[in-house]
Amino acid sequence: TCKHSSFIIIFFLILCSANSIDIKRSEFPHGFLFGAATSSYQIEGAYLEDGKGLSNWDFFCRIKGSIANGDSGDIAEDHYHRYMEDIEILHSLGVNAYRFSISWSRVLPRGKFGGVNQEGILFYNKIIDNLLVRGIEPFVTIHHFDYPQELEDRYGGWLSPRMQEDYVHFAEICFQSYGDRVRYWCSINEPNLFAEFAYERGTYPPSHCSPPFGNCSAGNSDIEPLIVVHNMLLAHAKAVKLYRDRFKSEQSGVVGIVVHSFMYKPLTDDKWDMEAADRALAFNTAWILDPLVFGDYPPEMRRYHGNELPKFASEERMLLRDSIDFIGINHYGTLYAKDCIYSCCICNDSSCNKGSDRAIRGFVYTTAERDGVPIGEPTGLPRFFIVPQGMEEIVEYAKKRYLNKPMFVTENGYSSPQNQVDDYHHDVKRIYYLDSYLAFLARAMRNGADVRGYFIWTLMDDFEWSNGYSVRFGIYHVDPHSLNRTPKLSATWFRNFLSNCSINH
Ligand code: NOJ
Repeated sequence: TCKHSSFIIIFFLILCSANSIDIKRSEFPHGFLFGAATSSYQIEGAYLEDGKGLSNWDFFCRIKGSIANGDSGDIAEDHYHRYMEDIEILHSLGVNAYRFSISWSRVLPRGKFGGVNQEGILFYNKIIDNLLVRGIEPFVTIHHFDYPQELEDRYGGWLSPRMQEDYVHFAEICFQSYGDRVRYWCSINEPNLFAEFAYERGTYPPSHCSPPFGNCSAGNSDIEPLIVVHNMLLAHAKAVKLYRDRFKSEQSGVVGIVVHSFMYKPLTDDKWDMEAADRALAFNTAWILDPLVFGDYPPEMRRYHGNELPKFASEERMLLRDSIDFIGINHYGTLYAKDCIYSCCICNDSSCNKGSDRAIRGFVYTTAERDGVPIGEPTGLPRFFIVPQGMEEIVEYAKKRYLNKPMFVTENGYSSPQNQVDDYHHDVKRIYYLDSYLAFLARAMRNGADVRGYFIWTLMDDFEWSNGYSVRFGIYHVDPHSLNRTPKLSATWFRNFLSNCSINH
């Protein structure tokens, strides 16, 4: 079957003249984790079953106009009822790890203001146990964008420092309930992207923004994202302290954080744009990682924000410093960066001259074109362009800046543009994407980067946040009516890759 399916894959690759690099699993070290990633709200459904409380996303999806086509995660992929089938799928692929998240409002329907929902605890116990029986390592994200709406209503969610204690309480329940079997924890998924989308662009709940990102409730997008990340970083550090003090000696797991990590390249060769590209990286990736490795925000951010950037007290800096065991990198694409301070900014959509964009992006205008030539092929999401080499570059950046701390690529994947034919079955572009990004990851590792695992985003087509079901990242197609799962060609490719079956032999 390996040979047979390889021929089919080659056939389609030739047909689409995609340039396959044919990376092999054997090029990665023994024990390297290979898996797929998902998140609770995006796949579970069962939004009010077995005692689950309403989450911020349950609430947001009910506001007209929030989500493309009026979609919601009420049913999603019905993973809550079909988890056994999904675990069988993972097993059939041959992965040795699976990254998923725990729905906060399923386990603690009212956050700290109510009790633990035992049925929620049970659900993830079943997942973890069934993964382990099949030799699949659970790689668990504690918080992936969804939290109990009550915390938003009571004190404004992550804008309030009170959220830190609520998060630590949730993390404690997770460590207590699952830590005897879970060895890999991701504290929070993409604080940087969450802050940008929920408090600058307004496309995630609670949908705060200021012009030029319009059509949402008023916020103060100059500083709100900074406050939100500040609270998330402290919440992370407190949860890690708790884990290290109370659980680590017995459970011997590791805790990392997951960062949205685009790569940025200078738009021109002038030194201002080169600095702008560095600044873009600092304002995106290092915004999260510098505090957790070195104990404070990147100097680049301090320089440009001045007093707007919240400050850590000295005991907080101690708490933050060295509070990650690994870095989780979510990498999808690369953009050009253009300086907006010293040289004239080219943007004509007014966004780069607005305070909001300045504050968060470090006076950098990002774009996907240089002299009319796009940086890479477009995909189903606006800023996600295919630039395989970016994988090597972002890993190299993290390796250098963080003294080669262990890394996992916690997400990497491809969504097809809306008009692309036959993403359902013969998704050759996705194969090309995964194959070539993996090849560049292997190159970074040959140059010494300490990367320990790689997760495809995502196992099956799912609820892609404000894009609803219109954007599909899955290696499995899910029929919108029957919810039946069907492998795309990329799933076959991944299975062959994992069994080390090359398409050329
Ligand atoms: C990052 C997020 O973690 C995930 O939830 C999302 O679906 C993918 N990127 C694709 O946008």
